[in-house]
Amino acid sequence: MDAAMNEAVNHLHLGVNVDHVATLRQARYRTMPTAHQVEPSVVEATRMALAAGAHSITVHLRADRRHIQDADVHALRAERGMLLNLEMGNTPEIVEIALRVKPDFACLVPEQREEVTTEGGLDAAGTRQSLEPTVRALEANGTRVSLFIDPEPEQVRTAAAVGASMIELHTGTFANETGAARAAEAVRLAAAAELAHGLGLQVNAGHGLTTGNLRELFGVPHLAELNIGHHLVSRAVAVGLAAAVQEMLAVMAEYPGGKPSEAG
Ligand code: PXP
Repeated sequence: MDAAMNEAVNHLHLGVNVDHVATLRQARYRTMPTAHQVEPSVVEATRMALAAGAHSITVHLRADRRHIQDADVHALRAERGMLLNLEMGNTPEIVEIALRVKPDFACLVPEQREEVTTEGGLDAAGTRQSLEPTVRALEANGTRVSLFIDPEPEQVRTAAAVGASMIELHTGTFANETGAARAAEAVRLAAAAELAHGLGLQVNAGHGLTTGNLRELFGVPHLAELNIGHHLVSRAVAVGLAAAVQEMLAVMAEYPGGKPSEAG
């Protein structure tokens, strides 16, 4: 399936998170970032993902720079015709970078130094005072902001109240659970998506999604974009990044969208 066909059949957009391409590079070249033989290339991976039909590219510039580096963000911003989603903690240093770089989208996430990956959603309600100026500054600067939150009504309402355009529902619990517990989490996600849609927010989702678990998320209405990283980069080891992206888009094309009753 080529990119144009994907665009025609996929209402659900795929944002490919390429952090782990940088993780692999840093594993070898952290201390010699400008060596002539540095690989793999984040920019090359990005081009491959987009050519295979991905809608946008996500990178998380963490305070500890464990994978994506400032130079990656600048190189990606310089790519023409690419939608860039910057995942970021709400800290003065990173906010300043985001205001300068002007990504198309920014996803505000909680960030703890010791965590392996983003654990749990942003406590938007509890950090509203510091969140609101950041959201408003980014939105005024031309960046559409999303908040990465757990599927809790208070968090959804706060996202709308502070002026975010979007939420990204944290699907980590859904991904980690199985059976009835996973189904129960899908119901919570569906309720949060319905509430967010009613408040005028775009509804995205991400974390731990795979071609194996995605169909169980299809009862969640109003999904606009999925941000997926680990599974795609893992599959890329076996089948290549373009094939991994196309496998995912093929499952996403089955998403019914709309209301829970329509989704079945
Ligand atoms: N969305 C957000 C906000 C994330 O923090 C992450 C993980 O970096 C992802 C999506 C992608 O999650 P995964 O790598 O599990 O697909």
